[in-house]
Amino acid sequence: NQSWTPKEKGFDHTLGVMREGYMYIPNRMQSFQTDIFKTRLLGEQVICLSGKEAAELFYDIDKFKRHKAAPKKAMKTLFGQGGLQTLDGVKHQHRKEMFMSLMSNERLNKLKAITEKHWEQALHAWTGKGKIQLYDEAKEMMTRIASEWAGLPAPDDKFEEHVKKVSSLFESPTKLGLKYKKAVNHRKELEQWIRGLITQVRDGKMHPETGSALDVISWHRDLNENLLDSQTAAVEIVNILRPIVAISIYINFTALAVYQFPNETVKLVSGNEQLMQQFVQEVRRFYPFFPFLPARVKQDFTWKNHTFPKGTLTLLDLYGTNHDPKYWDNPNLFKPDRFADWSGSPFDFIPQGGGDYWMGHRCPGEWMTVDVMKVALDYLVNKMDYTVPKQDLSYRLVHMPSIPPSHVILENIQRK
Ligand code: HEM
Repeated sequence: NQSWTPKEKGFDHTLGVMREGYMYIPNRMQSFQTDIFKTRLLGEQVICLSGKEAAELFYDIDKFKRHKAAPKKAMKTLFGQGGLQTLDGVKHQHRKEMFMSLMSNERLNKLKAITEKHWEQALHAWTGKGKIQLYDEAKEMMTRIASEWAGLPAPDDKFEEHVKKVSSLFESPTKLGLKYKKAVNHRKELEQWIRGLITQVRDGKMHPETGSALDVISWHRDLNENLLDSQTAAVEIVNILRPIVAISIYINFTALAVYQFPNETVKLVSGNEQLMQQFVQEVRRFYPFFPFLPARVKQDFTWKNHTFPKGTLTLLDLYGTNHDPKYWDNPNLFKPDRFADWSGSPFDFIPQGGGDYWMGHRCPGEWMTVDVMKVALDYLVNKMDYTVPKQDLSYRLVHMPSIPPSHVILENIQRK
């Protein structure tokens, strides 16, 4: 059998990714009528994959590794150096176990309680305030929630600046020039601050709650029984703080869905847990967040007659897989009901990655994200009255991450 992998012609298509964003891979899958094609990005040959079968391949840890897969630029802002995302094999599994230990029922219940408390306080503060921009309010609220849950102090004096610093890490991945440089510095400053906290914990000068992220990560021992060096531990704490604050993007999309799909929203007034869950899952499937993921081929292999040479950068299309008409009936319709009979496959619904949490790189924060979104949804539908004034809610599939330009303005907020 002759191998033939569709290939995008031309020298480099990095600009295509910048121009087409979330749709760069799906557009080419559509025109080649395939689930795999080759292209060139950032000066190297790249294989793009999409769909359930491809996701299963991508998460085969014998075939792909993560070391040196993410672009350097993203390492300096979004991910940080030496963190969980860049590890492979037993080192990855050992550190991943530590992350998963933070997701016990007890810790998740604690997060829910903290989240509810902060929504209560926010609702109180918003009442009678006129207008709010939900995205900005959510970032502040999520910073307080993340800090309380993770055992981190939230600096009172420069709180707004602190929120900006953390947010710049996930708002900047495709930014250039000054905005990018600022984000790089923000990461350095945050890591330095956290290194100081870790030193205080280890010196017995600070006592975070037992089982909190600051406690667990400060005292985590690697496979050689050594504590993590304080820089790596700081990167892992940012790996908790940054994405919890990034749930703000999903809170924004939850509010947008509540507004855009009133026929779906009315079903939620009963507070039915299953229907709330389905709505939140559909928000995570429908709206854009993480576009695609990088890995590198570990050893030469072939799949469906396509050759994968060792070292080749390979991208798995998350957004496209979540909208693949092979698995999703009318993928561009917002239909929470579709989750009533979803198979639960770890490979077709992958907004936060796929596969196994412990063995692979699937997002350890997925359960937390769903829990936090459910609290937000309950407030937006059942606990708050508000109006949505005329504004520009037209989020684009080009900017990564995608945030509605108005930041979702709500008006005349009152308790229901
Ligand atoms: C990994 C998305 C929230 C912590 C990932 C991955 C994605 C993702 C796509 C990569 C999976 C892979 O490499 O195969 C998201 C989205 C979130 C979110 C869209 C919504 C805001 C969270 C939260 C946490 C978190 C709340 C807090 C613990 C991590 C970590 C990894 C990760 C530490 C690396 C896992 C590994 O390499 O094994 N996330 N995530 N994320 N996420 Fe999340």
